[in-house]
Amino acid sequence: MMETITKSGSFDQASIAEVSAYWNARPCNIRHSPKPVGTREYFDEVEARKYSVESHIPRFAEFERWRGKKVLEIGCGIGTDTINFARHGAQVTAIDLTEKSLEVARQRAKVFGLEDRICFVQANAERLSDYVPAAPYDLVYSFGVIHHTPDPGHVIEEIKKYTHPGSSVRIMVYNTWSWKVLWILFGYGKGQFWKLDRLIAQHSEAQTGCPVTYSYSRRQGRRLLERHGFRVTDVKVDHIFRYSIPEYVRYEYKTVWYFRWMPRRLFRVLERLFGWHLCLTATPQ
Ligand SMILES: C[S@@+](CC[C@H](N)C(=O)[O-])C[C@H]1O[C@@H](n2cnc3c(N)ncnc32)[C@H](O)[C@@H]1O
Repeated sequence: MMETITKSGSFDQASIAEVSAYWNARPCNIRHSPKPVGTREYFDEVEARKYSVESHIPRFAEFERWRGKKVLEIGCGIGTDTINFARHGAQVTAIDLTEKSLEVARQRAKVFGLEDRICFVQANAERLSDYVPAAPYDLVYSFGVIHHTPDPGHVIEEIKKYTHPGSSVRIMVYNTWSWKVLWILFGYGKGQFWKLDRLIAQHSEAQTGCPVTYSYSRRQGRRLLERHGFRVTDVKVDHIFRYSIPEYVRYEYKTVWYFRWMPRRLFRVLERLFGWHLCLTATPQ
């Protein structure tokens, strides 16, 4: 049976130049703090906001587990997770498509005195081995990246070149069967499900109009890795954004009314069922 992995026809016309232009114009999480970009206070606030709103990230990354190990991060953005791998003693190679993100991430490494623990490389993950010599890493990690590139399958194929039998591959891609997609479909799309892929891309990020955003069911996520020779050992869904956006952009955290009444435990159940983040852990076969 033909698997819809890249959802052919949706974004295969998008170019890597468009993807790069979009992320270069506004790197991911760049407005997570109002402090001057590049200062220690700025980076501390970015991290605090990110891990408070997306508290599943440290659980998924297990930063402390990679002390003394080699980590390859694909799509590091402004380097929040990168810094934490390095801070916990990993030797990190961090790549991103965009110059602007890397500029901020490099500054971050400098501010925290972690430059000797991180090698930053500007690279297109679809052709990673053209930029980073193929060598085995203990962890290949990519959070919220692979679904933004025109051909995610190419990235997974490239990742294979950086693994050994004991490597762990941890990737987060967006979950189709999620609260967020429902919200996009009915909040913005007037229920036009036949336009769903486009609607998701239009509204998936803080800034509208992302050129490429794929999403995956649990099964499609598994298959994305399995068809490139990985064995998926864990699949978890997490994260529903529960804050009211007008306040959130002002750095105030007001839960939207329909989640405010909900017991925390029930909300967690909802997140584990219909969260936006599909977190996959795999090893080479
Ligand atoms: C949503 S951000 C995630 C950044 C970071 N992982 C984080 O969690 O903050 C997506 C990132 O993927 C990068 N990206 C998209 N396509 C890429 C590609 N083909 N190669 C390398 N990086 C890519 C973008 O430049 C952007 O920084």
